[in-house]
Amino acid sequence: METSLIFAEDLLHFIDASPTPFHAVSEIKKRLNAAGFEELKEQERWSFKGRKCYVVRGGTSIISFILGAEVLPCHSGFKIIGAHTDSPILKLKQNYAYNQSGYLQFGVEPYGGGIWRTWFDRDLYIAGRVIMRKDGKLFPSLVELKDLVVSIPELAVHLHRDVNENGAINSQIDLPPVIALEASGNIDNFNQRLLREFGVPGAEIISSSLSLCSTESASLSGLNQEFIRSGQLDDLASCHEAIESLINTENPPTTCVVSLWDHEEIGSRSIQGADGPFLLNTLERIVEAATGMLRKGDFQRILARSFCISADMAHAVHPNHTEKHDSHHRCKIGGGPVIKWNANQHYATNDLSAAVFSDLCDLSGVAYQTFVARSDTPCGSTIGPIASSGLGVLTVDVGNPMLAMHSIREQCGVEDHFAMKKVFETFFSRGQAEIIET
Ligand code: CO
Repeated sequence: METSLIFAEDLLHFIDASPTPFHAVSEIKKRLNAAGFEELKEQERWSFKGRKCYVVRGGTSIISFILGAEVLPCHSGFKIIGAHTDSPILKLKQNYAYNQSGYLQFGVEPYGGGIWRTWFDRDLYIAGRVIMRKDGKLFPSLVELKDLVVSIPELAVHLHRDVNENGAINSQIDLPPVIALEASGNIDNFNQRLLREFGVPGAEIISSSLSLCSTESASLSGLNQEFIRSGQLDDLASCHEAIESLINTENPPTTCVVSLWDHEEIGSRSIQGADGPFLLNTLERIVEAATGMLRKGDFQRILARSFCISADMAHAVHPNHTEKHDSHHRCKIGGGPVIKWNANQHYATNDLSAAVFSDLCDLSGVAYQTFVARSDTPCGSTIGPIASSGLGVLTVDVGNPMLAMHSIREQCGVEDHFAMKKVFETFFSRGQAEIIET
């Protein structure tokens, strides 16, 4: 029987296989293919041979679904879980290579709101996607240069005496990594390595989307192995919970959807982000392919009966900084999934959607917690309000409690990770929650 520890160890493999959103989607595709899901292409007409399918946009966002037993008559809705595939990371600039004071360095651009000081003196490597050309054709390929370790060296304390008091970081000046000692031919050498990765003789690299990634594997920690430590737990842990619960769902009564988007960390406005039409387009096409043409208003009726769980990691109370949290909303690692509230709708939760999620936790035998930020501190946001306002679907914002969000090494809990998956499985396996509106 699967235990919380086995599920946590599977998360470690999942994250280690996913240094960038390109790789995360590739790993998710592998898992879905192994579970009998069929890939649909956006450019093609859809017809469902099986009931389990997925579709990818931009290489970094993926929507997977299982058609429900009721297929999609208008008295049924979609059950959706949303999460994001991206995390704060340092991206290589386009003309990345330059020489400086005897070193070869790569220019980088911060992506998202990372805690960049945690990136200094780490063993890093380069991964991402390159677009190549061969015989007049362009094609993308994923790359991981794991055998090339690079780093961003800190300035010695002797040259920066007040570093512990005034450690501000200038992204342009402080973050470019050191790749090699300066020597002629070094950049060609790097490009040759990139090409060697693919084993495509005669191909040339036309453009790329490459990032720095940590070489450190995800791991379990704590006296009783109660913690999971890794980069990108926000939000790959939620992606893992969502995709595994979908894979474990057999013959659901209503159509179950997992939508994993890129670009949450930079506001979701992109072709494959949550603020774009990817999910809406996909839901419309599912209805069209499953049921044929509907009468005007039928699709809206289906959306009005749908429910979305937006899953993104939450802040656990930090033991050294309890004052940063509202004293009545201090969530703990090990305390179970967190329902996030914000009066100004930075989270999509309302009383109705919170009740549905609480009910699912009760049915799953899972404890849950409630988060509201201090009233003098702005809270973060998620894909929840974007997806719910774009679709018009009742949504709850939830996530598991974690420490060190957006550090290169974050920390969450083994039991919470398993508990959230249980709640997701309950969500997918049940009929639509009966909400009696008065
Ligand atoms: Co997040």
